[in-house]
Amino acid sequence: MWGKEFMAQNISEVLLTEERIQKRVKELADQISRDYQGKEVVLLCILKGACIFFADLARAMTIHMQMDFMGISSYGDAQKTSGIVRISKDMDTSITGRHVIIAEDIMDSGLTLTYLTQLLSSRNPASLRICCLLDKPERRECEITPDYCGFIIPNKFVVGYGLDYCGEYRNLPYVGVLKPEVYSGS
Ligand code: IMP
Ligand code: MG
Repeated sequence: MWGKEFMAQNISEVLLTEERIQKRVKELADQISRDYQGKEVVLLCILKGACIFFADLARAMTIHMQMDFMGISSYGDAQKTSGIVRISKDMDTSITGRHVIIAEDIMDSGLTLTYLTQLLSSRNPASLRICCLLDKPERRECEITPDYCGFIIPNKFVVGYGLDYCGEYRNLPYVGVLKPEVYSGS
């Protein structure tokens, strides 16, 4: 067994099907397009986890926008961030006076996005909002909520549609729960 079938062996449950994700991403894009009508928007992709969500969201949006990318890695183990964030790639464009929407894969403890919003706010954007595909509010360690959220999910470690475990599983088209035996002992 090879490829996606092999990866699927390690998934205990498909939490969000491809169809459900696509439908919700379109709804988010419609809402954002309405909210930002006539504004100059920078859609910011947080690499690597948001890459698939970002690409689908951007294509479903109907307003003028620029895209930019930021590479973030947080120290911690493969399942949990320490909140100490390293920027491996910064944005190329200035966001001063512009409307920025951060596209992120998941808000868990909230530490990464708390750090990031503080950093980006110091660059004086006209506005700054967060659009997360997934939110695990049970795990929150700081006061932050996404402005746009695709799905609220239970406290389970998920992979697919951009989300990884040790760099893998990002290319699964759905979001699934990773079998605990895959990461226990790591
Ligand atoms: P936070 O700083 O704890 O909110 O963590 C955010 C980051 O942790 C995300 O961008 C993901 O990279 C990672 N993360 C948190 N939960 C999961 C999960 O269930 N699957 C995969 N990555 C996750
Ligand atoms: Mg991530």
